[in-house]
Amino acid sequence: MGADAGADSGEGAGQFGAARNFVNTCIYRSLITLRAADIIARGATFRGHWKAFTKGQARCGWIMKPMHDLLGKVALVTGGSRGIGAAAAIALAKAGADVAVNYRTRSKQAEAVCSAIRELGRRVMAIPADVSQSAKIREMLSRVEKELGTVSILVNNAAVAQSRNVDQITEQDWDEALNTNLKATFLLTQAALPGMRTQGWGRIINMSSVAAQTGGVVGPHYAASKAGMLGLTHSFALLLAKEGITVNAIAPALIETEMVTANPRANPGLIPVGRFGTVEEVASLVVLLAQNGYITGQTINVNGGWYMS
Ligand SMILES: NC(=O)c1ccc[n+]([C@@H]2O[C@H](COP(=O)([O-])OP(=O)(O)OC[C@H]3O[C@@H](n4cnc5c(N)ncnc54)[C@H](OP(=O)(O)O)[C@@H]3O)[C@@H](O)[C@H]2O)c1
Repeated sequence: MGADAGADSGEGAGQFGAARNFVNTCIYRSLITLRAADIIARGATFRGHWKAFTKGQARCGWIMKPMHDLLGKVALVTGGSRGIGAAAAIALAKAGADVAVNYRTRSKQAEAVCSAIRELGRRVMAIPADVSQSAKIREMLSRVEKELGTVSILVNNAAVAQSRNVDQITEQDWDEALNTNLKATFLLTQAALPGMRTQGWGRIINMSSVAAQTGGVVGPHYAASKAGMLGLTHSFALLLAKEGITVNAIAPALIETEMVTANPRANPGLIPVGRFGTVEEVASLVVLLAQNGYITGQTINVNGGWYMS
């Protein structure tokens, strides 16, 4: 009896279990169908939004297309054969500019930068000139203007950084630093001004350094040359503000280039973010300053937090 009763209740439980499975399956399938319908409906909504977005975008003609707003402008980047200058030259070309890539001795590296720019469809020339010599500056400007046209973006980037202990700095080191880093910035700006004034449009971007603000890791001769660039920036910016010409400085530190890797005093431990910066992180600011007509007389710091303004 006990066994029969047990069998009965087992069979009942079996039937109940089958019914429960059936109901569960139905619920599960309905949920899947509902979810699929939901996904399809959301897809349709998303397609609708996307269509409206792309239609609006086509009307405005901005997002999704590379910004080529420097199209038709000619940029001269001094010290464009490597490091920050090379990255700036390529970034300006990506933004539409034709570029003259200046260098002092490394023609192969300058040619490699030119090839990258040519592949972007821009006009480009490599131009050797020691910017510490005023005659070479004038020669370079006239060659660039003859070949590419009026220079409207000037990036004063070429520099020497002879890392020295205080008592080892010679008069020759001082002259080389000041002539290459500071005097050249003044002479190049003066030489490029007539063309910019005729166009009523110009961008002068001076590559200063955190050394102008903190002293840095090269020496007082270098720091003085870079601080002088800030004075030039302020003075030219004020004098040219009404003529459509902006003048700004960028103060980097420590960016992973030969200048830094060759200097044993430069180490990432000095930088609050804990690493060296990349050349692209500086080049993007060069493009920003070339594109913006309302930033002038400023120093843009890109230094991983080493100097906070
Ligand atoms: N890297 C940093 O952490 C850092 C920090 C602060 C400021 N900066 C500034 O950023 C700029 C670029 O620095 P970088 O690190 O890219 O330097 P880099 O790697 O040493 O490159 C220096 C560039 O300047 C050119 N050059 C040097 N003397 C020249 C002269 N007399 N005439 C013409 N070209 C000359 C070199 O040409 P060749 O290739 O032909 O030698 C090269 O293209 C400099 O103004 C530097 O002071 C750099």
